[in-house]
Amino acid sequence: MFVVVGVSGGIAAYKTVHLVRLLILAGHEVHVIPTQDSLRFVGTSTWESISRNAVTTSVHDDVARVRHVALGQAADLVIVAPATANTLARMAAGLADNLLGTTLLATAAPVVVAPAMHTEMWSHPATQQNMATLRGRGVHVVGPADGPLTGGDSGPGRMSEPEEIFEAALATVSGDADLAGLRVVVSTGGTREPIDPVRFLGNRSSGRQGVEVALAAARRGARVRLVAAHVGDGVLAEASRHPRVEVVRAGAAVELRDAVVDAAVDADVVVMVAAVADYRVLEASDEKLSKRGQEGLTLELVQNPDILAGLMQDRRPGQTIVGFAAETADTVDELVAKGRAKRRRKGVDLLAVNEVGWVKGFESADNALLILDDHDDVVAQAQGSKRDVADAVWDAVLAVRGPAQ
Ligand code: C5P
Repeated sequence: MFVVVGVSGGIAAYKTVHLVRLLILAGHEVHVIPTQDSLRFVGTSTWESISRNAVTTSVHDDVARVRHVALGQAADLVIVAPATANTLARMAAGLADNLLGTTLLATAAPVVVAPAMHTEMWSHPATQQNMATLRGRGVHVVGPADGPLTGGDSGPGRMSEPEEIFEAALATVSGDADLAGLRVVVSTGGTREPIDPVRFLGNRSSGRQGVEVALAAARRGARVRLVAAHVGDGVLAEASRHPRVEVVRAGAAVELRDAVVDAAVDADVVVMVAAVADYRVLEASDEKLSKRGQEGLTLELVQNPDILAGLMQDRRPGQTIVGFAAETADTVDELVAKGRAKRRRKGVDLLAVNEVGWVKGFESADNALLILDDHDDVVAQAQGSKRDVADAVWDAVLAVRGPAQ
């Protein structure tokens, strides 16, 4: 997304550096337009290095490419943070005597402002009237927060935190924040059951589907705790950068269980995508096992706890629990039958049945699954990228829970 960030002259400009960073990390193209006065607080070099784009405040720069309107025309989203009383007044009046002013008049994109000023200035009827004008024009307002101000005083006027502005701003464009307000736990990856300090029993799960489930929820507004066992290289990169995703690492099944159970205490939805080993070594050796001339080696295995079963037992009211199952089947009917049997055994609200090596028509797809509800009805079939499939899981969750807010 092409995002323009206008910065006006307040000390809170330093917090906007972090906002720009969040936007960049989330993969957006960011162009910063500081007002002349704001450069006293944060200079051009900072904005250029953090946004990775040239920065100017003048309507007379790059005239050949009509810069005074080009940024506004290209923008998918405009954020003004901090928005001082002066800048808000200029916006309300439609003034166009600086680059931020012309850009704001030239844009059809959603505009989000994060006011920052002293309480008296915020409460002044002039400012309040300007805010009413701007709101009436569809401008989205984030904050201001109530808290300590730079003069040592305290009250409404403090700019909202960058994370909050980031979320509110993205929600205005996504139009799809249908999971906003939900707390979600997703497990992913394959557990590694230790044999000795250097060896383990593992599986080939890459963790990709679970990460997509977590990211899809975060993009749709949920707060996500992603409990990740072993995953492929780079698989966690995007999730680790997402401001609404907290990544927790877990190794063996028992650690994964502890992390998931801990996170589930206040979660609305738990989705278990992790490939949990059915067995662990009864007594992992503290010392590295050596051959010592032995012909064979016997490892005694014991069953791991069924995490889903435990979650179902202790679930809090209103919590939705979703399982994943990977099955082999020759026909869709066989797949559904296996899925139904597992759904009943697990007792979960939804079971996403993932065909490993599905029938024709699904071969080229990145993933394909069908979703069973607690009546064992097939409520969705999804195929496509793991990202698309992840969205289908959340659509099914919303269908059984009803709207998030
Ligand atoms: O029985 P199966 O391993 O196929 O079940 C898969 C589902 O159960 C997945 O959602 C997986 O995360 C979960 N599971 C679990 N605890 C286990 C084994 C699997 O929660 N010990």
